[in-house]
Amino acid sequence: MNILEIIDKKRINQPLTKEEITYFIENYVNGNIKDYQASALLMAICINGMNEEETFNLCDAMLKSGEIVDLSYVNGITVDKHSSGGVSDTTSIALIPILACAGLCSVKMSGAGLGFTGGTTDKLASFQGIDLQISQDKIKEIIGKCGCIIVSQSQNLVPADKKLYALRDTSSTIQSIPLIATSIMSKKIASGNDIIFLDVKTGKGAFMENAQDAKVLAETLIKIGSKYNKKVATLISDMNEPLGNGIGCYLEILDAIDVLNGKPSRLYDLVKFMAVKIMVLSEQYSEESATQKFDEIIESRQGYQRLLSMVELLNGNIESIKTMQSLTPTTTIYAKYNGYVESINAKELGLLVCDMGGGRKELDDKIDHSVGVKILKHIGDKVQKNEPIALIYNTNQKLSENLVCDRLESAITITTKKVEPTLLIKEYKHN
Ligand code: URA
Repeated sequence: MNILEIIDKKRINQPLTKEEITYFIENYVNGNIKDYQASALLMAICINGMNEEETFNLCDAMLKSGEIVDLSYVNGITVDKHSSGGVSDTTSIALIPILACAGLCSVKMSGAGLGFTGGTTDKLASFQGIDLQISQDKIKEIIGKCGCIIVSQSQNLVPADKKLYALRDTSSTIQSIPLIATSIMSKKIASGNDIIFLDVKTGKGAFMENAQDAKVLAETLIKIGSKYNKKVATLISDMNEPLGNGIGCYLEILDAIDVLNGKPSRLYDLVKFMAVKIMVLSEQYSEESATQKFDEIIESRQGYQRLLSMVELLNGNIESIKTMQSLTPTTTIYAKYNGYVESINAKELGLLVCDMGGGRKELDDKIDHSVGVKILKHIGDKVQKNEPIALIYNTNQKLSENLVCDRLESAITITTKKVEPTLLIKEYKHN
């Protein structure tokens, strides 16, 4: 077999066999196939797509490139949740402790953020001293004590995706449904959980800008999961505007804590929707009893306590919350006239916070957890002239305050006509 023949075949839109796909993955991971050859093949896949069989074979070859986590030591059902990437999306940090309180265990392996989308492990690193790279034995010990854990992906979890994702990121080959689906599902299957809940983001702040593509991606994810006998659910949710209020690590942890303390928000609504659906998928709850359980966990603050326990077991200092809360804004942005919020450009705000030092452009960039912006209004909200609409936390002044103000102001548009709020949850399906 020869990589040039494989690239040629895909270039003229012929389907690849299982053997060809396996050959590509094995030889790319071991270095025999070079980045320039792999990126030519990835671009041909982006342009010509892959059929169902090719997509499954690619996922399977990627999955087999590394370890498959064995969670058989967990008593009961295990759950994984993943988002296709968005701005101010801190659902996992609130959701995972809530599920643990409902008796559903999660061993969630998360990646770092790249580009305009945030990463769960970066946000958790706001807790001073937290150790997110731990051994399987330590994971087992923490699961035994608190029933949930969020950690960094182990180095040996789908090494093929690590290499391919970095290459896709630098060769404009992210935007492909079979490549996104196989990247997500190979990691989810390898992580070993029973239920896989996937939040497919759609809108200007998501990889899938258009709703039809999001639908096809969701269907592809379910089809792959079904082949591995996993219970898979997909949600298509809005990412035109930021999901929560804060963008930046400290601010997003505070958003998650607000959810766990029962403060109403779009983020709260999404976490509640997911938690209830996952409880029902576990077949241990009805929709009604799941809703009741969720409310009980929030009212008793069990979910919040569980998050704190998890952070402490990971050696994180929970006193860091006080540092996060004591942050003061460097500038307040006011509405220039009366009206309604028409749009908030999530992608631009994600990029802005990244440029301020709160995100990563290269995988080894260091993050400043304290910088960020906080929006005080969402699409459809009424605003009065001179009312605060956003806050800037430009704590390190890496960008000038004026530039940050200009970029933030131009990312939010206000109109005099009434605007309807965006529909947060667009579609929910499971196998
Ligand atoms: N998230 C992933 O894990 N992979 C992709 O390709 C896109 C989003």
